[in-house]
Amino acid sequence: MVWWKEGVIYQIYPRSFLDSNGDGIGDLDGIRRKLDHLAELGVAGMWISPFFKSPMKDFGYDVADYCDVDPMFGTLDDYDRLLAEAHARDLKVMIDWVPNHSSDQHHWFQEACKSRDNPYRDHYIWRDKKPDGGVPNNWYSVFGGSAWEWHEPTQQYYLHSYLKEQPDLDWRNPVVEQAMLNTLRFWLDRGTDGFRIDVIHRIAKHPDLLDNPVLDEDSAYFGQEHRHDENHPDIHGYLKRIRAVLDEYDDRAMVGEVYLFDPAEAGAYLGDGDELHLAFNFSFLCAAWSGKAFADEVAQAEKSTPATGWPTYVLSNHDQPRHASRYTFGDDAPDDDRKAKLLAAMLITLRGTPFIYYGEEIGLRNGHVPEDRVQDPVYWSLGPMAGRDPERTPMPWGPGPHGGFTTGTPWLPVDASAATRNVDAQDKDPHSVLHFYRALIALRRARPSLSMGTHRTQAVNESLFIYRREADGETTSVVLNFGDTPTHLPDPLQGAPVLLSSHPDPDPTRLAPYEARIVGG
Ligand code: GLC
Ligand code: CA
Repeated sequence: MVWWKEGVIYQIYPRSFLDSNGDGIGDLDGIRRKLDHLAELGVAGMWISPFFKSPMKDFGYDVADYCDVDPMFGTLDDYDRLLAEAHARDLKVMIDWVPNHSSDQHHWFQEACKSRDNPYRDHYIWRDKKPDGGVPNNWYSVFGGSAWEWHEPTQQYYLHSYLKEQPDLDWRNPVVEQAMLNTLRFWLDRGTDGFRIDVIHRIAKHPDLLDNPVLDEDSAYFGQEHRHDENHPDIHGYLKRIRAVLDEYDDRAMVGEVYLFDPAEAGAYLGDGDELHLAFNFSFLCAAWSGKAFADEVAQAEKSTPATGWPTYVLSNHDQPRHASRYTFGDDAPDDDRKAKLLAAMLITLRGTPFIYYGEEIGLRNGHVPEDRVQDPVYWSLGPMAGRDPERTPMPWGPGPHGGFTTGTPWLPVDASAATRNVDAQDKDPHSVLHFYRALIALRRARPSLSMGTHRTQAVNESLFIYRREADGETTSVVLNFGDTPTHLPDPLQGAPVLLSSHPDPDPTRLAPYEARIVGG
């Protein structure tokens, strides 16, 4: 089995998964203790968000040492133990690699700041001020404000696409490239199965750092066309060399965060099978609630994935509101899980690698985080709506204090819903979201048409999305009712055996509101 195509990958935000030592922060040993949960879910592997040495200004996406574990998360020995125990359960482990920027506490940057002729100076991107004293160009940080920070001691600006504590590395410097490739080898040599690559579309900028065209003066970062600060064609050369490093090893894979809105551009990051193995497709994160909206995104993904490539689908991650909350509206009851199950059925049965975000297997909603508990700096720089804490609240394992996540004080509050919405409770309820995810993933594993088959959309309208998957003479049809009223099941599907339904008692001729049904044939 090609694990990264056929299998399902589970994203773990390590701070929030399980705290093993009572300091309120999840850690590697916590993940290790919950491997049976992943094995039972049936996923092929996990992607663990950063756990490297870091001052945690961006909660680990500011890396101070690419080759060490932050003591907050454990030690390299803990990592090795986690990896060995994951492999013993046939689970792959992908880790996060953050090549666009380091932390300002990385020793490269600390050296670079000492003087303009320091050997590490050119690991980063420095420029003089303009003759009028202004910043070198009009680029903004994704997290707000100018992308340039003045460094008084050496009288130059440095570039940071994110926080000022995250200076951008200069990939045009071959020494940087070699050093970064060696950080990959460090983890590959330990047996790591692959990487999720952070903001890969940002690692090459225009060599002359030209101004971006301005479309709307008042909208800062969002008012610019990002023609020169991202997606420079030179990235493809870097990616081919990154791929060559992975190809020095057996059966490894990488998935890139290509945060571009043109799916064809994102598809190009797969090269001709010689760049990324997979590129994230974030289109579901913004899709409206209708059969047609999701079907359109699937059509787009099918069209823009090169023949040698393979699509991916994501409903939630650590940067966006959880989908169970995004699609809760009107008079939806907070414990109504029909929509969560419907989307799960779609995610797991589409042609492409599904990524599950921890907690979505129990239909977790955004957690409530009062302002005095806010952690994410983006809440303050871009506004409360942009804050990412609600989707990062701790995993509720059981009904006890803090959902069984910690014996101490959790770094973010565990949502009050944990009293009833938790893994233990759903494990005991055969109609829970958790049982449905397990059944879906088991079905994907058992049916080649679902894991590897072709995709053909059969019917679409506001409420219905029907598609058929086919491989080696096996056919599976998926029928999704996005509507809040019952709908007629098309005649040819009425006699087909029901393999799985989100409804406890599926009607042979009709779909219930929000029902997902998977049938053979
Ligand atoms: C990516 C990560 C996000 C992080 C940013 C900067 O978008 O997913 O969490 O803040 O990169 O590293
Ligand atoms: Ca801990």
